[in-house]
Amino acid sequence: MDNPWWHSAVVYQIYPRSFADADGDGMGDLRGIIDHLDHIAGLGADVVWLSPVYPSPQDDNGYDISDYQDIEPVFGTLADFDELLAGVHERGMRLVMDLVVNHSSDEHQWFVESRSSKDSPKRDWYWWRPAREGMEPGTPGAEPTNWGSVFGGSAWEYDPASGEYFLHIFSRKQPDLNWENPEVRDAVYAMMNWWLDRGVDGFRMDVIDHISKDTTLPDGVVRPGAPYGEGGPHYLNGPRNHEFLQEMHRRVFAGRDALLTVGEMPGVTVDEAVLYTDPARKEVDMVFNFDHVWADRGADPWLLYPLRLTRLKAIFARWQAGLAETGWNSLYWNNHDQPRVVSRYGDDSPQWRERSAKMLGAVLHLHRGTPYVYQGEELGMTNYPFGSIADFRDIEALGHYAQAVDHEGRQPADVLTVLRARSRDNARTPMQWDDSPQAGFTTGTPWLAVNPNYKDINAVAAVADQESVYHFYRRLIALRHEEPAVVYGDFTMLLPQDERLYAYTRRFEGVELLVIGNFTGEPVRADIDEAGAWSAAELLLTNAPASADLVLEPWQVVIYRRGVTR
Ligand code: GLC
Repeated sequence: MDNPWWHSAVVYQIYPRSFADADGDGMGDLRGIIDHLDHIAGLGADVVWLSPVYPSPQDDNGYDISDYQDIEPVFGTLADFDELLAGVHERGMRLVMDLVVNHSSDEHQWFVESRSSKDSPKRDWYWWRPAREGMEPGTPGAEPTNWGSVFGGSAWEYDPASGEYFLHIFSRKQPDLNWENPEVRDAVYAMMNWWLDRGVDGFRMDVIDHISKDTTLPDGVVRPGAPYGEGGPHYLNGPRNHEFLQEMHRRVFAGRDALLTVGEMPGVTVDEAVLYTDPARKEVDMVFNFDHVWADRGADPWLLYPLRLTRLKAIFARWQAGLAETGWNSLYWNNHDQPRVVSRYGDDSPQWRERSAKMLGAVLHLHRGTPYVYQGEELGMTNYPFGSIADFRDIEALGHYAQAVDHEGRQPADVLTVLRARSRDNARTPMQWDDSPQAGFTTGTPWLAVNPNYKDINAVAAVADQESVYHFYRRLIALRHEEPAVVYGDFTMLLPQDERLYAYTRRFEGVELLVIGNFTGEPVRADIDEAGAWSAAELLLTNAPASADLVLEPWQVVIYRRGVTR
């Protein structure tokens, strides 16, 4: 079988609200993206993934969609979209849309109809349930299950007009669609076909391991001190999830060429990912797992732990090995839901920001899988110095603050410390284009404040400097396109017990690559067998002067290449 094109591709993610604002209303838009396509093409990316641009009340910044087949007026029009798509294609890139079909907005016509009456033909398109038996509807504890929602509060919203509750795993403005109902699936597939017929090249599928639920809806286990039970085990990777994705494949993707599909799957295990991505099963091309971005947290996502490098390496090693024979990995540090990696696993101080950003980029991109670059990552953009809760916009951050401070009695300062490190708004501050006011993002007032470091960290400065993070990422992407061992090489983790160095080899058809990244601010010697042989090998890429004996400078990464007998 021919290797699919996306094995050697790199995807660039755009978060449209925060990318570029062409009309000065403070919100990014499609024309802003059109104006900056050369930035992405210049980096060498093969695919652009657009976070949602559909009409939306923006309760969760567009992940609450009120019309799946149009464009949010704040972002532009379908004509703008077609122009954007053509601009992407002209540059030899492909465009992947976000597909958010675990839930719609409560303002989607489907839900408006569903809510209108118990007899509505669309009633069963969502998860409506009566109050818990023997309880007065609408009173505390009468919710059909004890599940908490991801953004705080119960996962059930009471509708006084009909006396029933509807399920929302995310916000109350994001009611879950009922995939058990074949009409729902028909409608989703028709919509997907409509976009593909328009020319888009695939989908990134939002929380797609949530679509099949245990239809008996049992209560979840309540962790000590937690206000709600854990619904996850009853709605993640449910009994029909694979069946639904196979049906989607048959009804939407079969017979179409050159698509890319990636399923976002919080909590997915390696074994399940093998099934989801086995080409023979015809489900999705790859999944996003979360293990490596949860490596610095415990069961409670709002507790901070320092990163243990051995844990991070064990996670990657498990995923690399697990999908080596069957299936395919995606590779990412950042997206619109994660804090900036240079602030998280690197060092964003002026001294080491660029060097550690490059090291992190190289360590990630040299794994086997398809890398994703999130806007601003290629500039080494950092977390934002949030001063108070008033600086945040994200529904998750605001929901957590209210829950922790108002209901759990935690100290506001402690909650802010966590949000500063963890909040999704870190990823969502406007893209830093240049050193003009508002970083060239908008001529108006941005919807979320620009990071004050934009005078130093911006695209114009980075493109002008051959030693910038931007040019390093460009070289990394070029290396993937030129060197088959980067795409196909077998992966072997070295030094798994080392807390300071991340080292591995890739081996393919007579070529072996060695990657070593120093995750500390101190020089560290890499005690690797045949060190002499390696330091005599060809140095493909590094971010600091390389020593002769594999002593890595602070935050240095080296990528060596040598010929080997097969
Ligand atoms: C995904 C999105 C996130 C959103 C959630 C609900 O995790 O990436 O931004 O809040 O799904 O749609």
